[in-house]
Amino acid sequence: MTLGTHWGYSYFAMCEAVHQAALPTQCIAVDTWVGDVHAGQYSEEVFQAVRDENKKYSSFSTLLRKTFDAAREDIEDGSIDLLHVDGRHFYDDVKEDYEGWIPKLGSGFITNR
Ligand SMILES: C[S@@+](CC[C@H](N)C(=O)[O-])C[C@H]1O[C@@H](n2cnc3c(N)ncnc32)[C@H](O)[C@@H]1O
Repeated sequence: MTLGTHWGYSYFAMCEAVHQAALPTQCIAVDTWVGDVHAGQYSEEVFQAVRDENKKYSSFSTLLRKTFDAAREDIEDGSIDLLHVDGRHFYDDVKEDYEGWIPKLGSGFITNR
């Protein structure tokens, strides 16, 4: 699962690994797809490209176009094995992302950043 997806460089690398290894898992990408202070505000073209690329992986991949806070309501506690956190990079934002999403992580979780 990714928090912060943009063009999906990290996300689709994960999807391709799941596809090639035929892993029995679900992948979820969260983003508003409007941009932020680091990425800049970007156009609808980005989400359209991500949606097109996602068609290859649609049997196991879901795009959640919403804020990280709103997306939390869609995800069961303890259900995430791997969480890539890559939203806003200010300390307070990263801290809020980690603290808000920790309850969603399973016991064997992996994070980066
Ligand atoms: C650094 S980019 C992500 C890059 C991506 N991980 C990759 O591999 O290329 C950050 C993204 O996070 C999104 N974002 C930042 N804060 C967000 C929030 N609170 N809710 C939803 N999306 C957010 C922005 O729209 C932006 O697309």
